[in-house]
Amino acid sequence: MNKEIKIAIIGLGYVGLPLARLFATKYTVVGFDINKARISELMSGTDTTLEVSDEVLQAVLIPNTQYPIPNGDSLTTGLYCSSNLHDISDCNYYIITVPTPVDKKNRPVLTPLLKASETVGAVLKKGDIVIYESTVYPGATEEDCVPVLESVSGLKYNKDFYVGYSPERINPGDKEHTVEKILKVTSGSTPEVGEKVNDFYKSVITAGTYLAPTIKVAEAAKVIENSQRDINIAFVNELAKIFNLMDINTNDVLEAAGTKWNFLPFKPGLVGGHCIGVDPYYLAQKAQEYGYNPEIILAGRRMNDSMGEYVASQVIKTMIKKDIKIKDAEILILGITFKENCPDVRNTKVVDVIAALKEYNTNITIYDPWVNTDEVKQEYGLDSVKEIPKDKFDAVVLAVAHDKFKELDFKYLRKDNSVIYDVKGVLNEGIDGNL
Ligand SMILES: NC(=O)c1ccc[n+]([C@@H]2O[C@H](COP(=O)([O-])OP(=O)(O)OC[C@H]3O[C@@H](n4cnc5c(N)ncnc54)[C@H](O)[C@@H]3O)[C@@H](O)[C@H]2O)c1
Repeated sequence: MNKEIKIAIIGLGYVGLPLARLFATKYTVVGFDINKARISELMSGTDTTLEVSDEVLQAVLIPNTQYPIPNGDSLTTGLYCSSNLHDISDCNYYIITVPTPVDKKNRPVLTPLLKASETVGAVLKKGDIVIYESTVYPGATEEDCVPVLESVSGLKYNKDFYVGYSPERINPGDKEHTVEKILKVTSGSTPEVGEKVNDFYKSVITAGTYLAPTIKVAEAAKVIENSQRDINIAFVNELAKIFNLMDINTNDVLEAAGTKWNFLPFKPGLVGGHCIGVDPYYLAQKAQEYGYNPEIILAGRRMNDSMGEYVASQVIKTMIKKDIKIKDAEILILGITFKENCPDVRNTKVVDVIAALKEYNTNITIYDPWVNTDEVKQEYGLDSVKEIPKDKFDAVVLAVAHDKFKELDFKYLRKDNSVIYDVKGVLNEGIDGNL
């Protein structure tokens, strides 16, 4: 039992909730979020991101009737969720897991991070530790967030309170690599605090931890993990463009090259979401502030951002080759989430494919059994359906590799003369085109 440690987790999204649930198996955790609807959903025992099952969430929830826990009570583990600042005021470990997006010009937006720092600053006490988990550029924790903590709390950094940075590596929708099973990089604002933060995570992360020498090293490590992925995917996307011109199947080439022991198994595709398609911009911006123009990082971003339009042009080309009339053609898009087997539609690049196809005056139907259709409408102004359509289509574009789509019988979806375009390269037979 850990009566001396009480944790607040600020931001209960894809990262914050699984982490809060995990810590709640050993400690008292208060999950704090400004989104009141999210708090009531979680307190009713449901997670709409589907990262934590209802059963697992309910097993740790502390009901309203039992919170605050009276001093000396034996109840020392569990999760209580709240939007009330007072409920996190007696915590001593604060973990910040709020979004770090980019704006329309791809510049980092630190507002949620700075607002969350203000929240924590308002309740910060001597001896507390604030750990940031959001993905940022090197320097964001110490140069952007710590000054906010200091000015709001009136306390002195590394004298009255301490800071850590421990990036999250979870992969939404992945039920195998869950938070406790992923080795976690940790760091602290002094060597002693580094050890303390490391021990803190080690107490729940079964895969173990890696204590980085400084906060900046830990920040940089996270941002390059995603940048490396982005650049590798950009390279295979470029290969796909080249091999399509040469009429060579890219997947066949990758499979052949993959027989070499050190060939990396990346696949072409759309790069969406709020990590791989966003984080490289954080590193790029910081590099530019130091007077360095990051050519490879930004070229990778440009290549990956161009893929939506490219996929649409390939679909249209394939239809024309089969003499299918483009104007008013009925096209079915399978999947609109940013990746497979999860309901997350934020920053999905499937919308780029749809927008480009609409430019050809085609009619689009979007089928995705995973999404909240209201969210798709609200975020993108697009109608989508969760039930498989009964109509037949001139083209079917598999945009997201949800497992459910691999079981579909395409003959019920396609007209006699039609196109099946497999963006993800997961279908085996009857495909007319793929990346
Ligand atoms: N989702 C992933 O796969 C993933 C993986 C690794 C790292 N990350 C990083 O983790 C961070 C969080 O990402 P996420 O996907 O969990 O975001 P998210 O949007 O799912 O969740 C963020 C939550 O924070 C809340 N929030 C926003 N501002 C707040 C504030 N000022 N105070 C309290 N709550 C606030 C929101 O209401 C939301 O519930 C980002 O930096 C992201 O890059 C995400």
